[in-house]
Amino acid sequence: MQISHSPQSLDQAACDWLIVPVFENGVGDSALGSETGSLGGLLVRLSEAGDVTGKPCELTEIRDLSNSSVRRTLFVGLGQAAELRLAGFEKSLMTAVRKISCKKVDHAAVFVPDVAASGSAAPLGIVEGVRSAATSLCVGCVGQGLYKSEPERFEFGRATILTPEGTGGAKAIQAALSEGQILGESVNLTRELINRAPDDIYPETFASRAEQLASDHGIHCDIFDAPRLRKERMGSMLAVAKGSERPPRMVVLTYRGGAKNAPSLALVGKGVTFDSGGLSLKPSDGMKTMKCDMSGAATVLGALVAAARLKLPVNLTGFMGLVENMPGGRAYKLGDILTARNGVTIEVLNTDAEGRLVLADVLAYAVDQGVSKIIDLATLTGACVVALGEDVAGGFTNDQAWCDQVLAASTRAGEDIWQMPMFDSFAEQLKCDVADIKNVGTRWGGSITAAKFLERFVGETPWMHLDIAGPAFSESNKPHREGGASGAYVKTLIEVARQFT
Ligand code: BES
Ligand code: MN
Ligand code: ZN
Repeated sequence: MQISHSPQSLDQAACDWLIVPVFENGVGDSALGSETGSLGGLLVRLSEAGDVTGKPCELTEIRDLSNSSVRRTLFVGLGQAAELRLAGFEKSLMTAVRKISCKKVDHAAVFVPDVAASGSAAPLGIVEGVRSAATSLCVGCVGQGLYKSEPERFEFGRATILTPEGTGGAKAIQAALSEGQILGESVNLTRELINRAPDDIYPETFASRAEQLASDHGIHCDIFDAPRLRKERMGSMLAVAKGSERPPRMVVLTYRGGAKNAPSLALVGKGVTFDSGGLSLKPSDGMKTMKCDMSGAATVLGALVAAARLKLPVNLTGFMGLVENMPGGRAYKLGDILTARNGVTIEVLNTDAEGRLVLADVLAYAVDQGVSKIIDLATLTGACVVALGEDVAGGFTNDQAWCDQVLAASTRAGEDIWQMPMFDSFAEQLKCDVADIKNVGTRWGGSITAAKFLERFVGETPWMHLDIAGPAFSESNKPHREGGASGAYVKTLIEVARQFT
């Protein structure tokens, strides 16, 4: 989509749809300021009549205004100015964009108010507002109907972001616009990979997509096939792959935007392209969304592409462990003993706890490459969804300072992570009489025992594990977000990378 910026009063705007955010307090004035012209008068009347309240995500459509070059206007509520955060702003914009992108629109415009000027306690600068609007325009116009003969969502022919005259330097705004667009397109790339059917995206096809994207964007790409994984002693990950006709892959993407000796950040992703549970087979209900089990890997890939396109001055390496977890005749079995790359032996007591087996080897491999810090992302446990719901990722760490950096970045990105405890008592559940550890604990605290399992494979390297089983994928549409994959945490990873030194 072509998105451009124009600093102009709303009265001069000409488009098919104009999205105008409004606050709950003083609907008619504040952020719209002196820019409103006749629209301001209309807004005051609508607000006095109680038609527009400015409550979060409230939509009011105005069509066919006489003597206006704006064919239709969509007011969207932002809530109280003093309470507005980036996440809320984006949620409102997404709701508005999604409202109008279900039909073909030639030219849409979004007005980004100067929130700081309206006395918000957490002022959202015009630059953040523009970046977020560009992202919302990209993400809100793309649906999950990849295989539909009749599309149900349409990209705008073009879009314009309007800002109040005299706010922000044109250069800074232009930069924010293209950053926001790159972020949105990268989120959509992650969504697309996850939303594809598991018979289209399996380890080999995921790897070739990664290879193509890497060559498009100047990223170095290494692909490890099964013999190479064997040579690298990745027996834990290889065991998971045994029940499938589809051979496993590990993709290593290296982006070097920083100085030669600058520290490097490892992004590690779980890439189970389909999780049937293996011999510990899932019931149909739990299996039907398991094409999403490569969300961690898709998020890492989206973030690497974004970092390269943004030319971030950092060194990043993405490690994606790709397998299909199937119950074939050669499938790994309960009671099998696996030896991971770092020598730790594992007794398999549930083949559905496969993600940690994949990550064990990939994390150990990343550590051996001498990376400075690690973030892994995985749709790892249903227990994490029970604990935190569908919109919040669990955060687990062996290094509080590193965790604090990642949490701060996620706040700036408007994505939620809640830190979970890592008491050693949870590791006791993994004690085993036959091998060093077993791959499952009891029912209780399941997301934490999974994290304690992973901790055995990261050594002393500062590490943060994000369990994204809830936020990565949702079965139903919501006004502010399409069902299917969300692309969540691509933005957080980029925020971390931006500040990574
Ligand atoms: N991929 C699943 C976790 C999952 C559940 C992701 C729901 C997305 C939504 C994972 O491999 C799994 O099956 N975990 C088991 C672990 C258990 C066997 C210890 C689970 O959560 O039930
Ligand atoms: Mn599983
Ligand atoms: Zn899984």
